[in-house]
Amino acid sequence: CSVQWKWLKIVRVMLCTSPVFTKQPGSIVFPVDSQEKNREVVFSCEAQGSPSPLYRWKLNGTAITPKSGSHYSLSGGNLRISHLDKDQDAGTYQCLAFNSFGTIVSREASLTFAYMENFKTHRRSSVSVREGQGVVLLCGPPSHSGDLTFSWIFNEYPSFVKQDTRRFISQETGNLYIAKVEPSDVGNYTCVVTNTVTKTRVQGPPTPLVLRSDGIMGEYEPKIEVQFPEIVHVAKGSTVKLECFALGNPVPSINWRRMDGIPFSRKVDVRKASGVLEIPYFQQEDAGTYECVAENSRGRNTVKGKLSFYAPPHLIEKPQDVQKPIDDSLVWECKATGKPKPSYRWMKNGENLESLEERIQVANGVLSISRLTLSDIGMYQCVAGNKHGEVYSNAELKVIAVAPDFSQNQLRSHTMVKEGGDVLMECRPKMSPWGGISWRKGSETLQEISILDNGNLRIQNATKPDAGLYTCVARNQFGVASSSGTLMVKEPTIITTPPSTLDVTVGESIVLPCQVTHDPSLELKFTWFFNEQLIHFGNHGGYFEKVGGQHSAGDIMIRNIQLRHAGKYTCAVQTKVDSISIAADLVVRGPPGPPTSIHVEEISDTTASLSWRPGPDNHSPVTTYTIQARTPFSLGWQAVTTVPEVVEGRSLTATVIDLSPWVEYEFRVLASNAIGTGEPSKPSKQARTKETCMYGIHRIPSILHAFTRLIVWHFIFKNREAITAAVSLGERKMPLRF
Ligand SMILES: *[C@@H]1O[C@H](CO)[C@@H](O)[C@H](O)[C@H]1NC(C)=O
Ligand SMILES: *[C@@H]1O[C@H](CO)[C@@H](O)[C@H](O)[C@H]1NC(C)=O
Ligand SMILES: *[C@@H]1O[C@H](CO)[C@@H](O)[C@H](O)[C@H]1NC(C)=O
Repeated sequence: CSVQWKWLKIVRVMLCTSPVFTKQPGSIVFPVDSQEKNREVVFSCEAQGSPSPLYRWKLNGTAITPKSGSHYSLSGGNLRISHLDKDQDAGTYQCLAFNSFGTIVSREASLTFAYMENFKTHRRSSVSVREGQGVVLLCGPPSHSGDLTFSWIFNEYPSFVKQDTRRFISQETGNLYIAKVEPSDVGNYTCVVTNTVTKTRVQGPPTPLVLRSDGIMGEYEPKIEVQFPEIVHVAKGSTVKLECFALGNPVPSINWRRMDGIPFSRKVDVRKASGVLEIPYFQQEDAGTYECVAENSRGRNTVKGKLSFYAPPHLIEKPQDVQKPIDDSLVWECKATGKPKPSYRWMKNGENLESLEERIQVANGVLSISRLTLSDIGMYQCVAGNKHGEVYSNAELKVIAVAPDFSQNQLRSHTMVKEGGDVLMECRPKMSPWGGISWRKGSETLQEISILDNGNLRIQNATKPDAGLYTCVARNQFGVASSSGTLMVKEPTIITTPPSTLDVTVGESIVLPCQVTHDPSLELKFTWFFNEQLIHFGNHGGYFEKVGGQHSAGDIMIRNIQLRHAGKYTCAVQTKVDSISIAADLVVRGPPGPPTSIHVEEISDTTASLSWRPGPDNHSPVTTYTIQARTPFSLGWQAVTTVPEVVEGRSLTATVIDLSPWVEYEFRVLASNAIGTGEPSKPSKQARTKETCMYGIHRIPSILHAFTRLIVWHFIFKNREAITAAVSLGERKMPLRF
């Protein structure tokens, strides 16, 4: 409602809220007692809201005015009524709370007066009965309001009549029943009535009971004198008491049962059930037909009555506060449970809502209002009720009417689009209801075709003449407003020199070009990707470098190209109006990779035939293979003689010759192409050449070989670590020495 600027420049917004009850009045029973001097009651009522709510009260639907001097006074929302008067003040009260948002009305609270007058009659004629007969002594309570309890004095106070199977006092009527009179019953009986609210107690005139001397009454069947109504409505959760008592000779026994055969629930104390059946905390399942059975040796009699369940309404769906633009429509739903089924009515600002106009409809708890106007603003209440009570819920309806306003949402002052591109110019004024939007370019009104439903303007396939000053004009019944912005059409960016697929050799350096033409007024940004990964210049071991010196060139250089630099290179160019990219593949040629799967196929005393598989050719075909061998005696790897002498790039087998018999050999293969010789393959498994079959000539060298080998093994075992180190440094560079 108000906005206050504090010195710290903190904006404090006092939230404005509609009234909501925090306390509602409850019903009051006022005991009328002549001794009480200060006869007054207070109905409480309290509501929250901002601005703070004010209050009014109604009695029986009519406003009451607490003027000075009247016996009403208001303090906050509470209503105090002094000098209470039974005739003037009894009735139904409701509190109304209101602020600038509207009025809400509280639930109904009744004021009743509890009182009891004295018995009018002073004398009662005597009742004479035969011994064995049943008798009813009437109490006939005086005029009163408030619940009563009854007891009877037998002869003199404080001798009260005790209830048993033979004697019963109805708490409904106050009457005393004696099923079968005995001589000891003769005496004076006085009904004592207590008002449970006022706590006053009055005594009736005594009724003398006398015995007739004309004989004794014989036996007869039970005659039910006290019975409960055919239908009793019992509120959920309340306690119900049913009375049943019969006269008869012999004294009848009283029993209870349910007609549907269901046994009594445990909460019903059946032992207590003589003349009264009490069901505490009544629930739906306790509803049904109950029967009282009075029985003696002469016969039996029954009465039946139905207990029906009822529940006051309970809201399960309530209307919620809403804010709607003018001319819009509103639907509010209200749902309540209850038995019988609740009916609904609606109130607006404390008054019953009559659907005088066709646009306001009320049906089955649903309120709908079409074409909202400012006069619909207010507090609405749904009241769900059945004959056992009413519940109220409230909700606020705000209807907003605002002339078009661009102050929060001006058009973008500059919008750019590339030639041939699409652009959306957004127009988002505040207005309620949403009226019409039109667009102008310069002074010319634009066709509606390009205006979208939400008021935005779409320009497709922009051309240079589309550039200019655009104005969005918003209009509703409360006014017109406009906002303008410039559209600039820019030349698109075009890549003139794209990178193309390149074929290079390891170790070379190349430039990948990326040159563009673009709108000179726009800034360019180049980014490069290698296999979709952003290239961070300066990283990657310094291989990549930006060399595009001029403004519209994004060229890069790759120095000392390695095999791993082969792949896809993408140049991406971005301006404020567009972004394009182009990719090229880089092929890197190098010496072949190592052959694989070296296998000794066959071995004799001086030859071994080998096979292998080709390794990668790195984009240049293998021209030749060379084979190397190693024995425990040789100084590292040494070239060997093969057949054929030159192993061509196409062949994958060769035979090594001139080997020594009975020696362990390992072989490896190296591939060469036009660029060079690649890494050697992994060594083959060790294979031993056969002994020579020509005894005498070749045997000696092989014995010598065996001897030398012994020395070598001895050396290896003594210097294992040194050898391992030496071997890992490279077989060729540091041969073993001994
Ligand atoms: C209010 O209405 C009740 C019930 O109709 C009635 O008994 C009572 O007298 C009325 N009170 C006043 C002040 O009119
Ligand atoms: C009953 O009351 C009458 C009159 O008060 C009195 O004469 C009579 O003795 C009383 N009877 C008994 C049994 O107390
Ligand atoms: C865009 O405009 C140009 C020039 O007016 C025209 O040749 C082209 O067909 C248009 N493209 C589209 C998709 O409308």
